[in-house]
Parts: sequence; C-alpha cells; structure tokens
Amino acid sequence: MGRVLVTRRLPDGGLDPLADHELIGPNADDAPFSHDELVAHAGEVDAIVAVLTDKIDADVLRAGAGNGRLRVVANVAVGYDNIDVRTARENGVVVCNTPGVLDETTADLAFTLILAASRLVHEAEADLRSARWEGWGITQYLGRDVHGATLGIVGYGRIGRAVARRATGFSMRVLHHARGDTGEPGYLADLDELLATADIVSLHVPGGEPTHHLLDARRLALVKPTAVLVNTARGSVVDEAALADALHEGRLFAAGLDVFEREPAVHPRLLDAPRTVLLPHIGSASHATRTRMAALAASAVATVLNGGMPPNVVR
Ligand code: DGY
Repeated sequence: MGRVLVTRRLPDGGLDPLADHELIGPNADDAPFSHDELVAHAGEVDAIVAVLTDKIDADVLRAGAGNGRLRVVANVAVGYDNIDVRTARENGVVVCNTPGVLDETTADLAFTLILAASRLVHEAEADLRSARWEGWGITQYLGRDVHGATLGIVGYGRIGRAVARRATGFSMRVLHHARGDTGEPGYLADLDELLATADIVSLHVPGGEPTHHLLDARRLALVKPTAVLVNTARGSVVDEAALADALHEGRLFAAGLDVFEREPAVHPRLLDAPRTVLLPHIGSASHATRTRMAALAASAVATVLNGGMPPNVVR
C-alpha cells in the first residue's frame, strides 16, 4: 500500500483506482496547499495527484525524491507546464498527465468561444440583462459569420483536430500550423502566414517556455482587424497586454479566452476590452470528462505504485 497526496477535491469516483492506498489531502475546505506545504508533504508520500494550479517545482520534487520515497506525480490535466519534468526525470520521479479523455469537451468549449465571440453573444446578452436593449434594430450587434470562414488552428494535436472536425460541419476552410509538417491538407509551415490569412484563429499548443508569448505584439499585428482570436490552451501563449491593446484599438474584431497568463488574475485591460468573452478556465469542465481525467491520473499512480508503467507517462 502506498501513501498518496491528493492536492484538491476530485469528482466522485475519480479516486476509485486508489482504493487500496492511503490517501492524504485535500484540505477540508479544499484550499490549495501552499508551496511550503507541498514541499513538506512531498517527503512523506509515494505519489502526488496534482492539479494544474499546483506548482510541482524542483523544491517539491527534490524534497520528495531526496529520501527515495516519491515515485510518481500525476497531473489531472493534459497540460503539465506546472511540473518541472526535467527535474522529475533526473530524480527518477515519473510524471503522468491525462491525454485523450478531454479532447472533445475542450474542443466543444473552443467552438463555444468561436461562436460567442464572432456573434457578439456576450455584449448582446449583457445589454439585454441590464435593460440597455431598447428593441430590435437592423444594425445592432453585427458580428462575423462563422460558417464559411477560414479557421486557422495553431497546434494540431488531438484537441486542434477535434476543433477542425467541428469546423467542417460549419463549412469552414481549415488551415493548421504545427511544429512539424503534418502532411495533411491545410498545413501551413509559416505561422505568420496562417495568422494573416485566417478569419478565426484558435490556439491549441501546450504551455511552457517554447510557446511563451507565441502570439506577441508583432504576430498579433499580422492578424486581420476583422478576425477573432480564441485561446483555450494556456494564457502564457498570448501576450495579454498586446492583445488588450489590439482589442481596445480595434485592430482585432473579437476574442474568446478561457485561459490567462496569471490565473486567477486577468489583465485589467482585458476585463474591459470590447467584444471579448472571458471564461474561468472551464475547457474540460464537464462531469464526465473531469471524472475521467481524475480516474486516469489515479490509475496511473496505482500502476506505478504496483510496479508497472502506465501509458500516459510524460516523456
Ligand atoms: C488541461 O487539462 O490542461 C486543461 O487545461 C484543464 O482543463
């Protein structure tokens, strides 16, 4: 039997694969563990089931591996930019994530943002709720058509492809950019060309250093002023200050954002940016998907503690 730190409350049934192990955490009020608490606990457990807001850095990993106890950290997320994977590897700690189980749910949310931002749903609804709507008008709330538009997908992994499948149902022309040539129709090696061509840009690259501010001020300036930008990947992929400038200055038609550079903080100039839909990182938030994510992470931990190697190891 292993000892497993579970940092946050998980959906019912998510921890079933760990029924034979001793679980510690989460805090009674589900408050996140502080960094010091994570470091302290890491030395007393064989495994950690973490979420994307837990910073599993070198301090935590060395504290855990230092006494030879910590063997695995499983993130209940497909992204793992909160984990220092290199230090984990150097210290013999296996890192797992949850690929494959959240693609469709996250793609649903990306498409929700594509539609909502393009059709100014948020602004129209806000006017109606606050009694600013004085009756139908032929020039009100004129958005951009989604059907028939050119969609530029940046990052063509499982989620990007799931968004592309939805786009075909809207008769969209789909372009994609990825680090390597996919050999598939619509591939553009030049990200700048994709940004300058697309009517809607949807981001699906992982977070972390290689993609930090991939969309910086220069690249945002390439995007058409009539275009819509959607980010359900990681906030760090976009320079938020530059994006806020583009929206305020009308150099970008609209944006739909589910992720932010410094969550839960949101850049103040995005909060009041026009034609902008902001969501609190709910890409994978359906009952079924979050339960599957928890179970996949928990089952990876159980496999490692039982001497095996799960398929969802971050390499
Ligand atoms: C992930 O899994 O990385 C998502 O951001 C969580 O919704």
